[in-house]
Amino acid sequence: SSVDQIQSLILQTLSKEGSIPDSRELSYNGKSLNSPEDQNVIRGVLDSLQSKEMVEYKQITTTSFTLTEEGKLITEKGSHEIRVWEVVPVKGQGEPISAQDLQKAVGADVAKVGQQRAFKNKWIAREGSGFVRAVEAPVDETAVQLREISEKGDHSKGESITKELQKRKLIQPKKHIHYSISKASNFSTEVKRLETDLTVEMLNSGAWKESSFKQYNFAAAGQPTDGGALHPLLKVREEFRNIFFDMGFTEMPTNRFVESCFWNFDAMFVPQQHPAREMQDTFYVKSPAKSLEPEPEYYERIRKVHEQGGYGSIGYRAPFSREESEKLVLRTHTTAVSTAMLYELANQKGGFKPAKMYSIDRVFRNETADATHLAEFHQVEGVVADYNITLGNLITFMQEFFAKTGNHKLRFKPAYNPYTEPSMEVFSWHEGLGKWIEIANSGIFRPEMLEPMGLPKGVRVLGWGMSLERPTMIKYKISDIRTLVGHKTDLDQVKKRAAVRLEKGDD
Ligand code: PHE
Repeated sequence: SSVDQIQSLILQTLSKEGSIPDSRELSYNGKSLNSPEDQNVIRGVLDSLQSKEMVEYKQITTTSFTLTEEGKLITEKGSHEIRVWEVVPVKGQGEPISAQDLQKAVGADVAKVGQQRAFKNKWIAREGSGFVRAVEAPVDETAVQLREISEKGDHSKGESITKELQKRKLIQPKKHIHYSISKASNFSTEVKRLETDLTVEMLNSGAWKESSFKQYNFAAAGQPTDGGALHPLLKVREEFRNIFFDMGFTEMPTNRFVESCFWNFDAMFVPQQHPAREMQDTFYVKSPAKSLEPEPEYYERIRKVHEQGGYGSIGYRAPFSREESEKLVLRTHTTAVSTAMLYELANQKGGFKPAKMYSIDRVFRNETADATHLAEFHQVEGVVADYNITLGNLITFMQEFFAKTGNHKLRFKPAYNPYTEPSMEVFSWHEGLGKWIEIANSGIFRPEMLEPMGLPKGVRVLGWGMSLERPTMIKYKISDIRTLVGHKTDLDQVKKRAAVRLEKGDD
């Protein structure tokens, strides 16, 4: 290849001549190697030879000059000032030439500059209203200088000349990169193959003694390391978490994915005959077959409120089954956790104290996966327990909470949950999508749920819940949930997606 040929040319020349002061002088088969492209190839060859300590080189940058179009014209026709002088008559021989006739003779551009410079050089003089020659045979310095530069690429008097000509836009500079090359400690005309590894075989055979080893290249760029990245759901979760913390909430422990039907449904006053409990919605756990026994007195109060009522309620008046109560399920909502926490709040040492609690974690529903549904997703949920709070507080609270997530225009629609009364669906106007979208479910927990826990009568509990996936998909413009979670997740996207700031409300 030409690289090999250039390499051997350099080595042969060094061997013969000791050094190469200017790599542009190299030629191959009578062809000069002074083009920038050739010099670039030479640079590559030099780097490789230098790494083997066969040669040393220095980079040299020089400047040469080429003539502009105007400069070229001057080398052919003479400078503007000489062309003016040429058409001006000798003093005493004929009429002095008028400025107008001068322009006609050499053109307006040449006349303007040429007249000024011819005056400055004292080549012409004014006589009456015209001009006459003031010298016999001036030397056209500019043309002489330009001819030298055109030939040699530079002027022997150096910068004092080239600066001026550059200012007059008659020449332009051009940079050249080339090299001065000399032999180094391992110089030879043969390029040895260098070993990159010291092997067991080389040690056993003793071949290592004769081998030359390649130098480590400490300046080489390393392989990019493959760092971890936060999943988009985690980034959005962090935002919600911070909003809850800002509002004085504490986090509920959500580390139990398996719950008993008692906590997931019964304690929340979800009737045992409720359709949500059926196989198509809930994942039941086969083994272990049943939960630990619930606290007997609390269990008894729950059984009673379902079958007979109490606390102002008539109950469901349907049989309540312990077997159903002790079945285990993958929790269908994090409200099962809220319920257990409210029970603790009612029965803690020192009695009930107002509380604000939240959780964000995984829940499970026996649904067929499609673009917007998965069998598992995350719920963002908050509960507020205090004396004498009302529906008005719930609405205000949600307006405050959702404003922090970028949802400023809310609408509330009456809804039904077995465990809240009243219940409301929350809609938010979405600028980007141009429509009202449902963002949460909410309500005030029923006395049938709260009073059997032992919460004081005046205590109300507000609650709301939403999915984490929905706002994440809107934020990151993901249309198919299956590309966000699961085996079809686009890992590249996971790495690229920026952190979000929900309060900006700019989705
Ligand atoms: N558990 C409800 C759901 O899954 C959310 C909710 C929580 C509703 C608290 C009211 C009160 O949608």
